[in-house]
Amino acid sequence: MREVDGERVTAAPPAAAVTDPYRLRTVFAAFATGVTVVTVGGDQPHGMTANAVTSVSLDPALVLVCIKHDARMHQALMQCDGFAVSVLAVHQGPVARHFASGRRPLGIAQFATVGWSPGGRTGAPLIDGAMAWLECRVSGVHDGGDHSIFVGRLLSAARRDRGEPLVFFDGKFHQLAQEVLG
Ligand SMILES: Cc1cc2nc3c(=O)[nH]c(=O)nc-3n(C[C@H](O)[C@H](O)[C@H](O)COP(=O)(O)O)c2cc1C
Repeated sequence: MREVDGERVTAAPPAAAVTDPYRLRTVFAAFATGVTVVTVGGDQPHGMTANAVTSVSLDPALVLVCIKHDARMHQALMQCDGFAVSVLAVHQGPVARHFASGRRPLGIAQFATVGWSPGGRTGAPLIDGAMAWLECRVSGVHDGGDHSIFVGRLLSAARRDRGEPLVFFDGKFHQLAQEVLG
């Protein structure tokens, strides 16, 4: 810490209380992510926007998704064998908003406004126009506080060569500005 013009200047602002969910959310929001729609197929297909999605391992090929306990997707993932992840492209903000809305219809009707096709390995909807698609079998469910961490073993993975991803930062959707030198 040093003083400039009589003001104390710290390298970082004061720490937010980790018990204040609102403040904590704003800190977590500094971590820019992609945006996905996680889907399950079967009799009651379901889709949900998720950004708490991470690649975990290459060998074996694993990803994880964190799903809050009170999301309908939580129960859907508990009951399904497999799920899919569509990584959204920059123009798909409306798709992300749709699958995050509590007002969307349930079951197959929620997919009526988006183009999709059933995944060859799981039957879970793959969203048209996405940047990338993963299909997984649930290989583990772990405690994650008010979320559960679903680990998926990859059954298939594909991506488009071109295009730009949708980015989520500070609670808003963004597009990549430009590549910077690391
Ligand atoms: C950009 C964005 C990312 C989100 N990421 C997650 C997430 O990773 N995990 C989660 O449980 N909810 C996440 N949500 C919230 C769910 O999409 C939202 O609560 C949804 O309505 C739950 O649907 P369901 O209860 O019908 O399954 C996110 C919402 C947005 C807008």
